[in-house]
Amino acid sequence: MTAAAIATQSPGLADDRRTVVLVTGCSAGGIGHHLALEFAARGCRVFAAVRSLEKAPSLASQNIEAVELDVTSGASVDAAVSHVLASAGRIDMLVNNAGVLCVGPAVEVDEDRIRQTFDTNVVGLARMCRAVAPAMMDRRRGVIVNVGSVSGYSTTPWVGYYAASKAAAHALSDALRMELAPFGVSVVVVAPGGIKSNLAGNLHHRADPLSRYASARPAIEARATFSQSDGATSTSRFAQVVVPQLLRRNPRAYITYGNHATSTWLLYYVPPAIRDFFLARRFGTRQLALDLAATLAEESTAKCPMSQGKASGGAAGARSGGKCPFANPVAAVSSSCTSLLAVASLPVAAAAAVLACGVAVYSFFRN
Ligand SMILES: NC(=O)c1ccc[n+]([C@@H]2O[C@H](COP(=O)([O-])OP(=O)(O)OC[C@H]3O[C@@H](n4cnc5c(N)ncnc54)[C@H](OP(=O)(O)O)[C@@H]3O)[C@@H](O)[C@H]2O)c1
Repeated sequence: MTAAAIATQSPGLADDRRTVVLVTGCSAGGIGHHLALEFAARGCRVFAAVRSLEKAPSLASQNIEAVELDVTSGASVDAAVSHVLASAGRIDMLVNNAGVLCVGPAVEVDEDRIRQTFDTNVVGLARMCRAVAPAMMDRRRGVIVNVGSVSGYSTTPWVGYYAASKAAAHALSDALRMELAPFGVSVVVVAPGGIKSNLAGNLHHRADPLSRYASARPAIEARATFSQSDGATSTSRFAQVVVPQLLRRNPRAYITYGNHATSTWLLYYVPPAIRDFFLARRFGTRQLALDLAATLAEESTAKCPMSQGKASGGAAGARSGGKCPFANPVAAVSSSCTSLLAVASLPVAAAAAVLACGVAVYSFFRN
């Protein structure tokens, strides 16, 4: 049944002038929860979707209607959307906020986890759009808000699948924006930076002691909680900044806000070699390279006849100080080159940063 038909059958619904908003992923303490509270505080009629109603204890007291919804299930999506349309007669704004984090070395994350990430962050978002957009298109009005991430602009090591899913959500939103504009439906990407929520707490990352990345485990764990580190924007502040922008007559196509948001956005414009150089140092892949080189050198030293000589008190071994002169020459050369690159890269990085700012400002004002 179309939204128009529902409204005709229930005339009282058409008289309710409140903006009807459906927000997914509203478990207590997360971004969705605070977006729902802020929409309600601004006079909207809010339906807050949660996977389990137990995760939305205080919503009713805030005049928010809780709906059970799992975005990975077509039946659940259809039931929830039908419920909202039957209750309110229409959906003016859909906020696709539900999402999961996925952390781990890209070649070691298990396939089920990759599927779950894309099924939630991309297919689930698409499923919601496909369920809600037709009624908006019939009414020639509506706003779809897709919560992406600054990771969708520029990734770091260890979150490749999460970043890929968010980049996909951004690209899908861009296509939807152009395809739905003729029907009067707007599409907005909200790209949060680091916001305090349950995102890292909901992570189910399995440590594998046999991993080739075992020595990088502290760096991987640190990346899992990076968005929640000191300086993370509070969820309520995020909602207070974003919601008024979404309720404007013509919301911007992209709203980027939160801790590290601008720097991550700017990183996109920095040449990959320089970006990789800094991210490798910040997120532990440089240290991993050094650890691996050291292990290789130790193994080569152990096999080297000259160092064996030292072990047995021989003169040759003593002269070489126990280190094989032929051990890992590649690591030695690469280490010197990297040091040179580090020194040389500072002015290059400064120039690139100025260039990136110029490009960013130019593209910002050109939109
Ligand atoms: N926090 C940040 O720093 C940050 C940064 C960039 C982007 N984001 C994005 O912001 C959005 C909200 O995340 P958050 O930070 O508020 O994390 P959160 O507290 O973990 O909230 C995620 C919400 O999504 C729900 N969800 C997960 N899978 C779902 C599914 N299959 N169906 C329906 N709901 C599902 C979760 O429900 P359960 O409680 O039942 O698991 C939870 O309510 C996500 O899309 C996230 O990627 C967050």
